[in-house]
Formats: sequence, structure tokens, C-alpha cells
Amino acid sequence: MRILSVETSCDESAAAVIEDGHRILSNMVATQIDVHRRYGGVVPEVASRQHLQTIIPVIETAMHSSGCNWDDIDGIAVTHGPGLAGSLLVGVNAAKAVAFARRKPLVGLNHLESHIYANWLDTETPTEPPEFPALCLVVSGGHTDLIIMCGHGEYKRLGRTVDDAAGEAFDKVARLLELGFPGGPAIEWTAATIVHTDVVLPRAWLPGTWNFSFSGLKTAVLHMLREPDHPPVADIAKAFQESVVDVLAAKTVRAAREFGVKQILVAGGVAANGALRKQLTARAPVQVRVPPPKYCTDNAAMVGACGYFHFSAGDAKDFDLDVEPNLAFAS
Ligand code: KG4
Ligand code: ZN
Repeated sequence: MRILSVETSCDESAAAVIEDGHRILSNMVATQIDVHRRYGGVVPEVASRQHLQTIIPVIETAMHSSGCNWDDIDGIAVTHGPGLAGSLLVGVNAAKAVAFARRKPLVGLNHLESHIYANWLDTETPTEPPEFPALCLVVSGGHTDLIIMCGHGEYKRLGRTVDDAAGEAFDKVARLLELGFPGGPAIEWTAATIVHTDVVLPRAWLPGTWNFSFSGLKTAVLHMLREPDHPPVADIAKAFQESVVDVLAAKTVRAAREFGVKQILVAGGVAANGALRKQLTARAPVQVRVPPPKYCTDNAAMVGACGYFHFSAGDAKDFDLDVEPNLAFAS
């Protein structure tokens, strides 16, 4: 089964062609980072206008470089939430138009579920699919969720952030440190300029729950910066990253032990972070799977992988498919 997938939930216009839920025939991403950088963050109105300009060429390029023609495509999968309403609208309407014109079945997918399915992609070499039950750590710009996945479409959320998402914390702290946008990579690079720091920032353990909290950490950075003789920016960046990574890794590892999962699947933009990848792999009692960085941040290949399992389960939507900016996941 070959699926053309479309993703426009935030600031990447992306399309891909995925075969049988794991083989990547093409994967195109047009990023808007340079457009938003001058504003210091994603401007929703600007994002949707950019998607309008890029989505059709991105879909055409994904089709062309896949070597497929329209007869080879069995279905269209598109992200319909959660995300920015105006951005989602462009992708959903483009996908609907293609599905209508080419008479293909259509499915609308949850962006967070698609992030998890990046772990099914053959990104470098063909690999065995993940094993259930798996513990999923989804860490993106808008979400931080710890979820048990018992099978395709079977999720139970253990915990989530009670305030800022992990990626949001990286972005906000990078702004405080004047490191630019997007904050995650900027903090990672800055932290990597030193080997060690004596600076220690607080960790919110929220004992007795599987929840996370990052807003106190951000405030601690703010207070530290107000001190006239505060530590160098690289030390603060490193201490901040160590704090986020320590809490994410410790709670994920503990949950993996307690719930006896077979594997840990890490997903979402923050999963691109080298320190998080290293810590989790070093501390986990079971195999940790993390997609290569370009499949952690927003892309359509993951949507095509997720779409395969939805189509296989008989899931398909009518043309009244709508955007759901606040679409929930794994209650
Ligand atoms: O999944 P994603 O691309 O978009 C959302 O669904 O939100 O995640 C974007 C988030 C941003 O907050 C960005 O700063 C963060 O992922 N991020 C990183 C890294 N690369 C991206 N955070 C930490 N380290 C990174 N290397
Ligand atoms: Zn995302």
C-alpha cells in the first residue's frame, strides 16, 4: 500500500510517499524557519500564507521523486490536528482536493500519533517494527506526554506536562539567553561549546505522578540572568538542558521498569536532542528507539507511516474532514 501524506500543522510544509507503513519512497520538507526567525517565533498568520505558497510544489516534488504515478497511490493521509488552525487548513484542503481529483481514500490523522510512527520508518536500513507494549515519550514544541502503547491505536496516557512543553521551554529559555529561534538546536549547540558546568538548575520531579513541569525551570533561568555576575550563557544553557534531560530520562526509565514495557519509543522535535538520546539510551532497562533527527522534527514521512495503520484498520474519512486545532490524544 502506498500513501501520499501531507503535514502542515505548524511551520513545515511537508509531503511524502510511504510504502507499507515503513518504506520511504520520498520525503519533502519546506521549512519556514528563516521566515519566522526575524520574529523570534512562529507567527501563525505568516505560517499559513507560507503553506499556501509551498504545499502544492511540495506535494508535486514528493510525487515526482517517489517515482510513483497517481495509479500507484492507494490513499492520502493528512494531519488535521492538533496545531495552528490556519496552517492545518492549508494541508487538509490540499489533501482533500488531491483525494477528490484523483479519487483516492482520505484519512485525517493526529499529529502526536504520527510523531510516534516515525519509529516505524526504515530511515537508514530496514529494521524490525517496534514491539508492544511500548512506552512512548512524545516531546514536541506543544506537547510532553508519557504514553503506554499496547497496540496500533491503543494508547493510555500516564502523564503530561502541567505547564510548558519541553520544546516550548527550550524555545523560551533560548529567547531569554538571546540564542535565537528555534531554541532547541540553539541551546544544544551552545551547551556543546563547553564540556562541563558547575551550574545546577532545579528539577521538578512532581513525585507520585508521571507528569512534568518546566515553567519553574524557565523562571529559575530568568532569576539567574538578573544577577549582575551570572554564569556565562553556555553554562546556563548546559545546566538548563541537563535539568530537562535528567527529568525526562529519569521518569521515562522509571515508568519503563514499572510497567514492564518491551521498548521505549521517543518522538517529537525534542527527541532530536543528542543529550536526551544519549541519557535515555544509557539509563533505560529496555531498547530505546529514536528516529534520526530529521524524522523527529515535523515531517510527512511519519504521517504516511501512521496512515498505513489507519487505512489497514479500515479508517477513512469523508470530504467533511475538518481541522481540529485542539485535537486530543491518548486520554
Ligand atoms: O515536533 P516539532 O518539530 O513540532 C511540534 O510538533 O511542536 O517540535 C518542535 C520543537 C521546538 O520547540 C524545538 O525547539 C524543539 O522541538 N527541538 C529541539 C531540538 N530540535 C528541535 N529541542 C531540543 N534539542 C533539539 N536538538
Ligand atoms: Zn510536531
